[in-house]
Amino acid sequence: MDPIYLDHAATTPIDPKVLDVMTEAYKKVIGNASSIHSFGRAARKVVDDARSVIARSIGAREREIVFTSGGTEGDNMALIGAALARRKNGKHIITTRVEHHAVFRTCEYLASLGFDVDYLNVDRTGRISIADLKKKLRDDTILVSVMYGNNEVGTIQPIREIAHLLAPHQALFHTDAVQAFGTVDIDVKDTPIDLLTMTGHKIGGPKGIGFIYIRDGVSLVSVAHGGDQERKRRAGTQNVPAIAGLGKAVELVREHLPERIAAYLGERRLLLKTLDEEHVRYQVNGNSDHFLPQVLNLYFPGTNVETLLTKLDLAGVAVSSGSACTAGSVEPSHVLNAMFGNGAPETKSSLRISFGRGLTPDQIRQAGKIIATSVNELVSL
Ligand SMILES: Cc1ncc(COP(=O)(O)O)c(C=O)c1O
Repeated sequence: MDPIYLDHAATTPIDPKVLDVMTEAYKKVIGNASSIHSFGRAARKVVDDARSVIARSIGAREREIVFTSGGTEGDNMALIGAALARRKNGKHIITTRVEHHAVFRTCEYLASLGFDVDYLNVDRTGRISIADLKKKLRDDTILVSVMYGNNEVGTIQPIREIAHLLAPHQALFHTDAVQAFGTVDIDVKDTPIDLLTMTGHKIGGPKGIGFIYIRDGVSLVSVAHGGDQERKRRAGTQNVPAIAGLGKAVELVREHLPERIAAYLGERRLLLKTLDEEHVRYQVNGNSDHFLPQVLNLYFPGTNVETLLTKLDLAGVAVSSGSACTAGSVEPSHVLNAMFGNGAPETKSSLRISFGRGLTPDQIRQAGKIIATSVNELVSL
């Protein structure tokens, strides 16, 4: 049996149509997008075309999109850039206990610089409460960062409510939309978000490329110093083939958004049905109303997740115990800790299954049966 890849929240295989566009760009577009000669202008056109597709996909203006090397850089740029730009107005920053490390550790860094960082707790489904945010919001709050959809449990946060709450306040609102981008309809015209980060490799695009949306009128202090690329907001020669690939990946996911959502929901149902048929005891971690369709986090009472992951890997099913950065380490997930309490059984016996393009119902059924056998073997030990 070929191994079954159910770890698309860690990264996705590149879409062949994206690869075609990139191969073409690598072969034919050799110039530097900042050069004024014809080779440079050809490269610039590729960059401009991708920027236009991306801007349209979230209801933004082209000049509000800045290319980055991905989610981590975008989150660092947004948080450090905004905190430094606004420090005369206050030092208070609010974020959540369930952010990806790209936000979490950047906040720790900002705290080490003297910023005062407050963390919003989440309920057992991984959601923050607006009442809690209202309580924590102060006149000197300069930045609020709340992720769109969680990478480990898939819970979607009340982004519209947060954005509207903060619109009349001086605090900038940043959201990490790295996991949400491919399966949630995001519109920055409707939802007054100031800063949004995204990466290509979660949506069938290339790795090492992404973008940050910076609302018109918001200025950030640059973290990297160098050339004047991206309207002086992100120094460094643009990666033209990767930008072309990102543009194509965004175009493809936006074109097929309803079909993708329906496909992942179908895969999710089929997997759970298979587990039920095999009499496995499990509980779904996350929010049953507000969740990313591609992420399914399951608690299997009585199992040890490290042993389970190894068993599944040997049996040809690739899943994960949390975010890729924490998988492989014995550190329990900070997301599950925040939801269930430090040391709770859910933090030791849960795994993440994530769906993506190209999976067949047979593969899902087969994976479900292998998971069931492995779980039942561990439980009966
Ligand atoms: C929610 C979230 N934010 C940020 C990142 C980091 O993105 P990148 O891998 O492009 O640096 C990830 C990647 O796992 C993520 O899931």
